[in-house]
Amino acid sequence: MFEIKDLTVKVLDKTILEDLNLTINDGEIHCLMGPNGAGKSTISKVIMRDNHYTITKGTIFYKNFDLTKMDTTEVARKKVYLISQNPIEIAGITNAELLRTALSDNNELNENILEFNRHLKDICTKLAIPNDFIHRDINYNMSGGEKKKNELMQMWMLKPQFIILDEIDSGLDVDALKIVASSLKEYYDEYKPSILIITHHPGLLEILKPDYVHVLNKGKIVKNGDYSLALNIFHDGFGASIMSREDFHE
Ligand SMILES: Nc1ncnc2c1ncn2[C@@H]1O[C@H](COP(=O)(O)OP(=O)(O)OP(=O)(O)O)[C@@H](O)[C@H]1O
Ligand SMILES: [Mg+2]
Repeated sequence: MFEIKDLTVKVLDKTILEDLNLTINDGEIHCLMGPNGAGKSTISKVIMRDNHYTITKGTIFYKNFDLTKMDTTEVARKKVYLISQNPIEIAGITNAELLRTALSDNNELNENILEFNRHLKDICTKLAIPNDFIHRDINYNMSGGEKKKNELMQMWMLKPQFIILDEIDSGLDVDALKIVASSLKEYYDEYKPSILIITHHPGLLEILKPDYVHVLNKGKIVKNGDYSLALNIFHDGFGASIMSREDFHE
């Protein structure tokens, strides 16, 4: 189980998240929606222990470990994985190097180099990315859509059990969106991870139907519901669904 309790977060003395509560049971798919600047990406970064953000109150428990007491590497070792809104480029380290190091760190490198490369090639083929991505520097000089697929390739190798997808669907062309969504669905059906989807678009949710939908505004969850809440928001916007115009975050 994953549980955020009474989480308050500040950056540069500004409160961005306030008394936030969110529980995600194993194997559940949750969707987080909200206007630009509401604090959605901040939640994902705080979970991954980005040290730009100061937790002034609250806890984040995952499988009985308090993630607020860990650093990013320790959180990743607990099989928590973020595909961020803007994946960072890391020059000088290739995908293969990163993955072999991470897997061997976790005692999960069970393939010799040939099997490992073949495995990665199969994933590249499924994601419709060139095989040479395996030996390219992480996200370096890749297009926006390529970065999302590259992060997905890593996910298939690292086999996380808690996955945060921060706008993985933004900037993807129609074909890429189909490939990414069906790859995620295949992963979900095979490994049953918990997933937190952050999105502004309906496409991914049509494939990966969320069990619960939460709406964040000004750092607070203001409404909870099921998939129909997301559909209402796509149809009517945030205002008509949950609040008056003056409540909006500027
Ligand atoms: N490192 C930072 N320094 C200063 N302000 C920040 C920082 N990170 C986030 N913020 C501010 O916190 C607020 C929430 O940002 P966040 O990126 O979490 O929004 P979001 O809900 O993901 O929006 P979007 O839908 O546009 O991606 C914004 O007002 C943003 O400017
Ligand atoms: Mg964001």
